[in-house]
Amino acid sequence: DIYGAQRKNSKGLNMNIISESTPFFKALATFSERQWQAGPLVNGELLSGEEQTVLSPYDTTQTVGTVKLAADNAIEQALAGATAAFPAWCRTPVEQRAAALQKLADLLEEHRDELIVLCTREAGKSLQDGIDEVREAVDFCRYYAINAKQMMSKPELLQGPTGELNELFLQGRGVFVCISPWNFPLAIFLGQITAALATGNTVIAKPAEQTCLIGFRAVQLAHQAGIPADVLQYLPGSGSVGAKLTADERIGGVCFTGSTGTAKAINRTLANRDGAIIPLIAETGGQNAMVVDSTSQPEQVVNDVVASSFTSAGQRCSALRVLYVQHDVADRVEEILKGAMDQLTIGYPGDVKTDVGPVIDATAKSNLNGHIEHIKQVGRLLKQVELPASCANGHFVAPTAVEIDSIKVLEKEQFGPILHIVRYHAEDLAQVIDEINSTGYGLTLGIHSRNETHALQIADKVNVGNVYINRNQIGAVVGVQPFGGQGLSGTGPKAGGPHYLQRFVTEKTRTNNI
Ligand code: NAD
Ligand code: ALA
Repeated sequence: DIYGAQRKNSKGLNMNIISESTPFFKALATFSERQWQAGPLVNGELLSGEEQTVLSPYDTTQTVGTVKLAADNAIEQALAGATAAFPAWCRTPVEQRAAALQKLADLLEEHRDELIVLCTREAGKSLQDGIDEVREAVDFCRYYAINAKQMMSKPELLQGPTGELNELFLQGRGVFVCISPWNFPLAIFLGQITAALATGNTVIAKPAEQTCLIGFRAVQLAHQAGIPADVLQYLPGSGSVGAKLTADERIGGVCFTGSTGTAKAINRTLANRDGAIIPLIAETGGQNAMVVDSTSQPEQVVNDVVASSFTSAGQRCSALRVLYVQHDVADRVEEILKGAMDQLTIGYPGDVKTDVGPVIDATAKSNLNGHIEHIKQVGRLLKQVELPASCANGHFVAPTAVEIDSIKVLEKEQFGPILHIVRYHAEDLAQVIDEINSTGYGLTLGIHSRNETHALQIADKVNVGNVYINRNQIGAVVGVQPFGGQGLSGTGPKAGGPHYLQRFVTEKTRTNNI
């Protein structure tokens, strides 16, 4: 960690320690019936708009609240407000901006229990995922606050002839449009926003349409922490809100996390609009593989496969989609895997015993079930877990494992609890590596091997952003595993890494010969 003693990651909460978990469960209960309201927060004013009722993904007979969607007038006012606020925010000392983010981290911790319940009730997240979500959001605030101060407190002094002063300044680019996905509705939502704010940009935040309540609470807390209302604007709504924002001439940059297809659409919009050429920071999907060789330890492999493929209902960009397992150990791995899948508890994500909760909505469920039916024809079903009756009212998809011949039979990322398995012979390893690279995605790779040289060779040859050897391949930690992909998986800067903020600034060299 380059920031050493200056920064410590948030501790989160250990549910196995009774003195921590008992008050936590009591606190959670107080939010179990609450209904939240959200809408466009523009220049500090809550605007009106078409109202939608928010239903829980695990039980669509339960409401979580209502959200008013941003109409065109809200979009226009947010753009005008954020544009006008930029010069002053850009000149606000970085120490002051960083202090507001540190305060936001404190407020997130103070409101942790409410935010966890919201993550469960609106996004269908398990309790552990909710805890991790708040922890990661806190870490982003603190990491970027410190990083921005290190980068921007003073200009860099450059060489020059005697009498000439050469200095390099970093400054914000303008209005950053931050567009986020529903699967990390707090952590990624705030990670983008805090990076842009720390570096002196104003922000228009567009959450995923499925998780507008969580985004709203986060923005309220940011304002409470001292981020001025016109510096951070909030526009809940569908992709069309994002499309209008990215087409506008006044914006200075876009930070996007979501699917590869949407990133490409935004790229086209930016290319076709009038005005300046501005950066797109895009973190997108993956077709993530794990390569398991015959020296690996099958029980450990299965433990890490289950964590990587089925927890979070497979709805992590980092999640394992294709397990390449060497023939010599494949029978054993599959046998243990079937047993482990039998042990999965599927159901209400607010129950601490639940391993697999719902997927986000009816469309996701229908698409994933369609893929399962299709891939069962193309490949050989290894195991499909039966859903319990308690799942009837929600968007649940049965965890499924299917053997296929190659990653090439998969047309796109399947964002749910579906594992594909490919057997390979040791002599075909080079072909396996080529196949994985041929997808064009490059997000995460898992490797299981007790031969270190072998593992490091595979790690070197597969083109991905994050490699995990002999562990699961999910849950990157801020400042520990800077996270982000390459190729179809993104434009490269790593969230929670030391170079991320560079993408949010513009540089000015001043040569002074007075
Ligand atoms: P998505 O692309 O459907 O939506 C993401 C966001 O883009 C939403 O806010 C949506 O409203 C908005 N949007 C949609 N169309 C738009 C347009 N034309 N212009 C501007 N904005 C538009 O993705 P999703 O379903 O919300 O999220 C799941 C995807 O995100 C998966 O592919 C996953 O792999 C990826 N993801 C990647 C990372 C990463 O760090 N690489 C992290 C999390 C999720
Ligand atoms: N940062 C998230 C993970 O690593 C996407 O799972």
